Amino acid sequence: MALRSSFLTFLVCAALLPVLFKAVDAQGLKVGFYKKTCPKAETIVRQTVASFVAKDATVAAPLLSLHFHDCFVRGCDGSVLLDSTKGHLAEKDATPNLSLDGFDVIDTAKAAVEAACPGVVSCADIVALAARDGVVLNNGPSWQVETGRRDGRVSSASEAVANLPSPFTEISELKAIFARKGLSAEDLAALSGSHTIGNVHSNAFTKRLYNFTGKGDRDPSLSPAYAQKLRSQCPRGDETSIVEMDPGSAVRFDTSYYARVVDRKGIFRSDATLLQEKVTRDLVYQYTGSTSDFFHDFGVSMIKMGSIGVLTGARGEIRKHCALVNA
Ligand code: HEM
Repeated sequence: MALRSSFLTFLVCAALLPVLFKAVDAQGLKVGFYKKTCPKAETIVRQTVASFVAKDATVAAPLLSLHFHDCFVRGCDGSVLLDSTKGHLAEKDATPNLSLDGFDVIDTAKAAVEAACPGVVSCADIVALAARDGVVLNNGPSWQVETGRRDGRVSSASEAVANLPSPFTEISELKAIFARKGLSAEDLAALSGSHTIGNVHSNAFTKRLYNFTGKGDRDPSLSPAYAQKLRSQCPRGDETSIVEMDPGSAVRFDTSYYARVVDRKGIFRSDATLLQEKVTRDLVYQYTGSTSDFFHDFGVSMIKMGSIGVLTGARGEIRKHCALVNA
């Protein structure tokens, strides 16, 4: 009798399995989501990003940063693209987002995609695709971007402040911030490698040069020679000068970021602090010696990051203009 009922349970489960998987599929992201509804979407985004990068290779880094800042606040729902409205400050006007860039690339891609298939492709997906395409064009790895995100209707500056890590964050707090987004310490080590490309404003690191603990001191974890160089680029009180994140290699996506962290030349405290725990330290050293390990893990972690808090199915909307919610 018991055998019969467990056989029956097995049959019912086996019959339900395809239904269950279909339900998961319909709710989630997948590679090639627009294959039927907008077959040229991914090509259009890639060509748009390529046309911008051809004019200025530094455009790739802000696109990558944009995806990170989108995903960590309300999930990857394009909320970072929304403009502030009367009496309400949106994410893009929050202090940690004031240096974000690349909005024009996203708007151009969106306009081209809308011309091909109106009302189909989300801004959040365009951001995710553009981040990957920019990395590839800076000689970095490629990965299969899952699509099917929909756009959110809410964007709040205070949420950006609450969810984005500051460049002065220590390892335990960084791990906690990433864990709250479903990302591991391994993801943190791999994704920090993004700082192999791009530029940085001096206000994100001058405290390390002039007043680390409030006593006019330097961050002891920063190489003295590098601190000296940064001081010459950003004199005391200078909060706006721009320096390359990975000098001499700022438009080349490679492992030199990790070599710099080992040499105590990571520009942020949040880079240097990766050496303070075994799991992240071991990966920093591993990536220094292996481009293929870094590229592989980076792609895996980007796919994970790209799935944070996504709106799929009937949730959210497909915005007409990335800076505005639909009327
Ligand atoms: C681990 C925590 C992180 C912190 C504290 C952090 C902080 C920062 C800061 C302060 C800047 C400089 C902004 C400026 O002054 O213009 C920056 C730039 C950048 N970040 Fe991060 N970041 C982190 C993780 C990430 C992740 C996960 C990614 C991507 C997946 C990323 C991608 C970038 C890129 C590409 C730039 C250069 C942007 C440009 O050139 O405009 N960062 N980051």
